[in-house]
Amino acid sequence: MPNDFLERDRFTATEESKLLHDLQCNILAPHRRVHSAHLLIGLPSDGAQARRYVGEWSDRVTRASEVAEDQAKRTRTLKRWGWWNVAWTGRWRIRVGKAVGWDRLAESEPRPALKRGLVRSFMVSHGALRADRLGRSEEIPLVETEFRALTGAGETEPMSWSAGAWERPFRGNQIEAQILLASDDLDELKEAVAAEQTRLETGDMDGRVLQTLWGYVARDRERRPVEHFGFVDGVSNPEVLESEYRWATRRHGVYRPRFPLKSFLFELNGSPGRYASFQVLQKIEQHVGRFRQLSQLEQEAMVGRKADGTPLEAMGPGGINDFVYDFEASKPRCPFHAHIRKSNPRLTKLRSEMAVLFPRRGMLYGEREADVTTGEFRDEPDSGVGLLFMGYMGGIHRQFGRMVKTWMANSRFGGGVHTQNVGEDLIGPAREPDPAKDYTTVLGGAYFMVPPLAWLEEFKPTAAAGSDQ
Ligand code: HEM
Repeated sequence: MPNDFLERDRFTATEESKLLHDLQCNILAPHRRVHSAHLLIGLPSDGAQARRYVGEWSDRVTRASEVAEDQAKRTRTLKRWGWWNVAWTGRWRIRVGKAVGWDRLAESEPRPALKRGLVRSFMVSHGALRADRLGRSEEIPLVETEFRALTGAGETEPMSWSAGAWERPFRGNQIEAQILLASDDLDELKEAVAAEQTRLETGDMDGRVLQTLWGYVARDRERRPVEHFGFVDGVSNPEVLESEYRWATRRHGVYRPRFPLKSFLFELNGSPGRYASFQVLQKIEQHVGRFRQLSQLEQEAMVGRKADGTPLEAMGPGGINDFVYDFEASKPRCPFHAHIRKSNPRLTKLRSEMAVLFPRRGMLYGEREADVTTGEFRDEPDSGVGLLFMGYMGGIHRQFGRMVKTWMANSRFGGGVHTQNVGEDLIGPAREPDPAKDYTTVLGGAYFMVPPLAWLEEFKPTAAAGSDQ
């Protein structure tokens, strides 16, 4: 690949297919499955066994190209059979009184092209790389550099503001890898989780599943993805692939051109043309009851959007993502402390946020009571539910770190306009956590490296045997 590849946002068909062939799914485009499971694991204790286990994943992870082909096939089928099919299924769904989504559409659909299968992704934790558990950490220099930048000079890691409350196994660098499984079919997913546990923990493997996090997508009555507070989510995300950019533009309107590849990927040291991504995972509990005690206006001001995704700031003709914060306006509408403003200042002229933003691929966790006909949440729990936040990026420090520390957790950050105390972000208090006041609590988190397939292949038994000699 050419030297400036990571700076680019447009590719030839050959370049794109080569890239997608070597990358794992869920980085450049979401996997779009309804259910997910995240197995946080300890690798086999013996180094050679650990390397063999990692190598086996090269034949098992889902390539980005497979998800892209699957999605294209699905779109073609829907076009051929007509969207009335989807509408009909929606009515059927209401009649039988079940909150269902695409998974049920797939089940009720005899045409196999609409069935989206299980996807698998495998990633190695930052802790395991730092401890050089696989003997190949020199290829990922950014992890070391960035970690030092975040922890050195008295600074804290960006996600550690409530580290005291972190659940096991997030404490003490126990997590060495993550297996991400996702499917529209929950039974299929459960079987796959059990099979992965057996593979890791039995026979000559002595790895351990430390915890399995279960995620899902919830939808409002218009079938849009929502988070637990009831707001439409997944509106604003950087895009780089032509197909994703077009899809997002059609759906929400886009306020920025396509983002460069470096927003998503970095190049492995010493391996020109081989790209990986970092994943930031956070388990964030949402105190729904406490949030719901706020008035509707206060809730909207916390987020910066109305529940249906309409921005508080005036939007352009493109749709709910077509807006910037216009500093010349005499009556700005969106408060500076709003979550979407603190996490993306959308500077009219500077565009500096383009170097910081990264794709978010979060899933919800925790059971809720939902209306049987519309699928809308009916209860207001204060614990046990939240977001499995997942961001993919080319640099943890320059992206996640900067967003959290310089923007969100900075109460004097006024979007580059003034430095008065603008208040706290919905998810990141710039002070010590307060269980009586906070609307969210970070229960844990970890950084991972999502390697390309070629990197995994080099750990396969034959290659490993060669390199051990
Ligand atoms: C429980 C925790 C969280 C909740 C409930 C939440 C909720 C939301 C909602 C409702 C939106 C608006 C939909 C959209 O524009 O896509 C949003 C956008 C966003 N969130 Fe969060 N979020 C959470 C955690 C985080 C975290 C941890 C980060 C990053 C560190 C983050 C970064 C962003 C960004 C960058 C946007 C898009 C802003 C824009 O481009 O306008 N969020 N979030």
